[in-house]
Amino acid sequence: MSGETQQTGGQGTGVPGGDAPGAEVPGSGRIGFDTSVAHSARVHDYWLGGKDNYAADRAAGDAVKAAFPGIVMSVRANRAFLARVVRFLAGEAGIRQFLDIGTGIPAANNTHEVAQSAATDCRVVYVDYDPVVLAHARALLTSCPAGATDYIDADLRDVGKITARAAQTLDFSRPVAVMLIAVMHLIGDQDDPYGIIRKLMAAVPAGSYLVLSQVASDIQAEQMAEAAKRYNRLAHETQAHRSHDEVARFFDGLELVEPGLVPVQQWRPRSEAEARARSAMWGGVGHKR
Ligand SMILES: C[S@@+](CC[C@H](N)C(=O)[O-])C[C@H]1O[C@@H](n2cnc3c(N)ncnc32)[C@H](O)[C@@H]1O
Repeated sequence: MSGETQQTGGQGTGVPGGDAPGAEVPGSGRIGFDTSVAHSARVHDYWLGGKDNYAADRAAGDAVKAAFPGIVMSVRANRAFLARVVRFLAGEAGIRQFLDIGTGIPAANNTHEVAQSAATDCRVVYVDYDPVVLAHARALLTSCPAGATDYIDADLRDVGKITARAAQTLDFSRPVAVMLIAVMHLIGDQDDPYGIIRKLMAAVPAGSYLVLSQVASDIQAEQMAEAAKRYNRLAHETQAHRSHDEVARFFDGLELVEPGLVPVQQWRPRSEAEARARSAMWGGVGHKR
């Protein structure tokens, strides 16, 4: 299924067969299904209390937790940020199309569930490159009949492929919310993260939005530096934490929606409990005028 698109109503799939642990998926330039090395999707699933993780993922997750005990609260605050932003976009902002890249293993409040609870005709395209996420894509393909969902197995660094496939479901002449939630820290500077976002935002028209959260280097700085060091020793993808100014540069040319680029729990919290959470993640929403 590598590189294939799945749409609502299509058949689900299993983890791609035949990939030897650690082998590259032929023609994709990325690693196959390998449970002996931690992968970000599965480590994230572990922190969120999911069941789709293996010993290597739990070891990396625990190593980070030992350096930064606030990690579980941080990833939960990030998921709550995702839900609030999608509710804002599908409600107040009137957005009906979402391109959610770096989707992760399905969890509570997946983007299409939140968006379609505000407006049933929302269309959501998910993109991830992890074979375990692909194996669970069926759970993301449960659209309301008035809307649509789609899943693309692709690498964020291949923007041309993503926009070409997403155009089968989304109308790129109308506004799209491009969502990069907790994924840009997995794109190192050598892969031109700013260029990737420029290309993505060039593909969508005025009126579109960029939603982005990224692990911080300047919140709990010492703990986060140690956490990154430990994670990078154990995981397939290395983490690049970024400062407020570095994350703000992702929004160049866009107008930041109030309250701007803030720790994720401070982005329009809906309750005292949400506001009281702590995270080491910057989050913001930019509007393309
Ligand atoms: C930390 S999880 C975040 C999941 C979800 N967005 C959330 O915030 O709950 C990062 C996800 O990005 C995916 N990812 C990492 N690098 C990627 C890349 N280059 N292309 C596509 N997906 C990527 C991982 O497989 C993983 O599912």
